[in-house]
Amino acid sequence: MPTITVLGTGYVGLTTAALFSAAGMHTYVVDPNDSRLASVRQGKSFFYEVGLDPVIAQAVQTGMLIPTNSYRESVPHSDFIISAVGTPDNPDGSSNLQYVYAAAREAAAHMQPHAIYVQKSTVPVGTGNHIAKLFAEAGVHNAYVSNPEFLREGTALLDSLWFDRIVVGGNDAAALERVVDVHHIVEKARGAIAQAAGINPPTTLPAGSYISTSLESAEMIKVVSNAFLALKISFANSVGILADTTGADITQVLAAVGADRRIGTAFLQAGRGYGGGCFPKDVSGLIAAGLHQGVQLTIMEAAQEVNEAMPGYVVAKLQNALGGTLGGKRVAVLGLAFKAGTSDCRRSPAITIANMLAARGAHVSAYDPQANDEARGLLHANVQVQKQYDDALTDADAAIIATDWPAFTSQAPAEFAKHMAGTVFVDAMNCFEPASVQAVGLQYIGIGRKAA
Ligand code: UGA
Repeated sequence: MPTITVLGTGYVGLTTAALFSAAGMHTYVVDPNDSRLASVRQGKSFFYEVGLDPVIAQAVQTGMLIPTNSYRESVPHSDFIISAVGTPDNPDGSSNLQYVYAAAREAAAHMQPHAIYVQKSTVPVGTGNHIAKLFAEAGVHNAYVSNPEFLREGTALLDSLWFDRIVVGGNDAAALERVVDVHHIVEKARGAIAQAAGINPPTTLPAGSYISTSLESAEMIKVVSNAFLALKISFANSVGILADTTGADITQVLAAVGADRRIGTAFLQAGRGYGGGCFPKDVSGLIAAGLHQGVQLTIMEAAQEVNEAMPGYVVAKLQNALGGTLGGKRVAVLGLAFKAGTSDCRRSPAITIANMLAARGAHVSAYDPQANDEARGLLHANVQVQKQYDDALTDADAAIIATDWPAFTSQAPAEFAKHMAGTVFVDAMNCFEPASVQAVGLQYIGIGRKAA
């Protein structure tokens, strides 16, 4: 079995390290952040992800997963060095690659000649070639493989174990094969890993293909995939705004449009827009990379513009329903994470909505099943975070579903109505049936769905 080093304990790095170690490979996971390492040692990730903690706990206990802050302790013993360090964005929207390059330089000082350097972080085209130059300057000639990650937060284990495709790109065919072989080891163990994680395999199995490409193509595949998904969402939101003026119900429209197999329904749900650590950054990164090459990606600029306008659109609807002013109104914001299934609040439209409401004078009471702690540092001082969703709802003039957590979507609308003082119910995720909400005396306001 090969030995692996994963650089970075973020969403991608820690999930990858947990799965590789659970599949029977000794895996070091390296991070300079001691509190994150301490958490891994205790069998926990620093973020919430379904099924991940039991896998980490078991792998740490059996000694297969080894958290460390030392390249010297990990990299020289490893056959594969997998870089999954952070790529924040610069103020101009381009990707900040300082951690990517620093990790490569440091690894170069410790790698065995046969070790393969695998890039999992989302990086712009050309990054791999730049790293090859850094390696050459350091006097090492290790193979470099781009192996972009397609997992989603909230379904990270399922996405990684039952993948649509694994892409490997580079100039060294033998190295590409070796990276594919490592993934085969995980694929063979996936039933047992899912069991340890307490998650069920999908009912319909995905294609699960392995795709080998050039280095540049692999780098582009990741960013272009995310850009296309972001484009679909902004398209859904644009026509959702149109539906608001026509009386059509956008959920009916897009379900039928997506029933055409050439289009598909995935990522075609209108709502308060996309957020998180990936789509906003990848879209701005692609726009910036294009401009750098003299190519203006007008279509992505439009997708970004639509997305940035969505929280304001939702808040305007709420304000209208409350008679044109938010000053002094009590508003419950249910959901703060950028999507359900995660504690991640980075670029969360739900946070933007809560902050906009507070800035306009509303008394905002917010609750999230997993993201309360992470949200606190990002919220306007006048947003009160509650421990229970019904505390957030108590005496509210209006409530807004800002993240579609099952804890909210599984409630009967009467459950919301009974705590509220007012009747305005904004479904910013289009996850309730308007008629069922109106039946309990609430005023239903969705995105692109005219109330009956
Ligand atoms: C995204 C991609 O889906 C992953 O394939 C990729 O690996 C990951 O980025 C990454 O680059 O690391 P993620 O950001 O975890 O994954 O979340 P998504 O499930 O893609 O959702 C992103 C945002 O889009 C959320 O705010 C969600 O609420 C929103 N969304 C999604 C919509 O507004 N409408 C939809 O129809 C679907």
